Amino acid sequence: MGEPVLFDEAMLEDPYARYALLRETDPVHYADQIGAWIVTRHDDVDRILRDPDFSSVITFDAARATGDPLRHLYAFVHSSLVFSDPPSHTRLRRLVSRAFTPASVARLRSWIEETVDRLLDTVEPQRRMDFVSDFAAPLPLRVLAEVLGLTFDPDEQRRLKEACDDFLLPFGRKPADLADEESARAARAGGTLAAAVREALDDAVDQPESLLAALAAASEDGDRLSRDELFATVVLFLIAGHENLTSLLSNGVIALLRHPDQLHLLRQDPTLWPAAVRELLRLVAPNQFIRRTATADVHIGDADIRAGDAVLLVLASACRDPAVHPDPDRLDIGRPRDWPIALGRGIHYCVGGPLAQLEAETAFQRLFTRLPGLRLDTTRIEYANNFNVRLVARLPVTW
Ligand code: HEM
Repeated sequence: MGEPVLFDEAMLEDPYARYALLRETDPVHYADQIGAWIVTRHDDVDRILRDPDFSSVITFDAARATGDPLRHLYAFVHSSLVFSDPPSHTRLRRLVSRAFTPASVARLRSWIEETVDRLLDTVEPQRRMDFVSDFAAPLPLRVLAEVLGLTFDPDEQRRLKEACDDFLLPFGRKPADLADEESARAARAGGTLAAAVREALDDAVDQPESLLAALAAASEDGDRLSRDELFATVVLFLIAGHENLTSLLSNGVIALLRHPDQLHLLRQDPTLWPAAVRELLRLVAPNQFIRRTATADVHIGDADIRAGDAVLLVLASACRDPAVHPDPDRLDIGRPRDWPIALGRGIHYCVGGPLAQLEAETAFQRLFTRLPGLRLDTTRIEYANNFNVRLVARLPVTW
């Protein structure tokens, strides 16, 4: 096939038609435009995610790692769970998992309910809100701030969000391509995040129950997370656990309002919510793709992937592959209930899955109970300029 145009404006509006075309005609497609293979079928994505011949490591110019204004970014990239391969990954994951158990997540339930209710208390009398900025964006950040013991102050939380956004500015770009002003913002953001983590670690001494205290204390045979690793883990939680949820909540509420039959079933039987959240995760998979690098020559379908080649695994396409999910564009909460590939597979499978599920379940359930007349107050959904996480820019709703 000719080179399909990827990552243009139309794809922000609706990426699914392009994914379907690639899945059908060229499922392991080499895109000259970005110099990477694009993998769109479920079983190929699944296979690569479990294949040790694909690496998660991303490289940064190591010479700049110390004494550089972007040193916090290098520390993040080089000490992060998500950008590591075994054996480093095995070690980090074991230490992080010790702190992040299903039991520690379950303890957050009542606090999440309270946070959702507080957000709804503020907007309820107004009878309208921007669902994104009034609900879907602040909720995950507040939950993470609580989980990590960072800050309760809304202004501070806004600062934290800006710091996360700025910190990621150099991501996926060569240092030489960054404007000085962008480098300066990213460096400042690194300083802000490092100070927030330092402060929270000091406070964690008095809150031995907190996740951060557990992370700092987690050890195995005397092995502990280093300072850089603690910083990288906290920042990774903030980044990985934030926009994905904003995306799931926003696109999820749109999907539910557009499928009133499914919403009706949920109103009749709230025990269906956990299944509904898994189905929503499949349908609106927030992370469009994740990246790997081949470390050996690998043959997949008709494609010869060479060692060193970059590969984009399109999770959002895999989630709508009709070979695995019949009638894939339809929200059907009665489908089989396994976790969808939207949370990854294999060794890097999302460590925050139980928290994401609990947060989304609580948010949707409280939202539709407290605002029974909720409806969209727009006919056109506007998407943010982000090809990786599918973020709604604003979403006026009324009730
Ligand atoms: C709807 C919400 C979420 C989605 C769609 C999502 C998606 C994902 C995906 C696809 C991966 C695999 C990345 C890869 O293989 O390269 C991942 C890993 C990860 N996620 Fe999530 N995530 C969500 C929520 C969260 C939350 C709430 C947290 C924590 C607070 C979190 C923390 C992590 C971490 C630490 C990893 C790295 C695990 C590893 O490398 O071993 N995520 N997530």
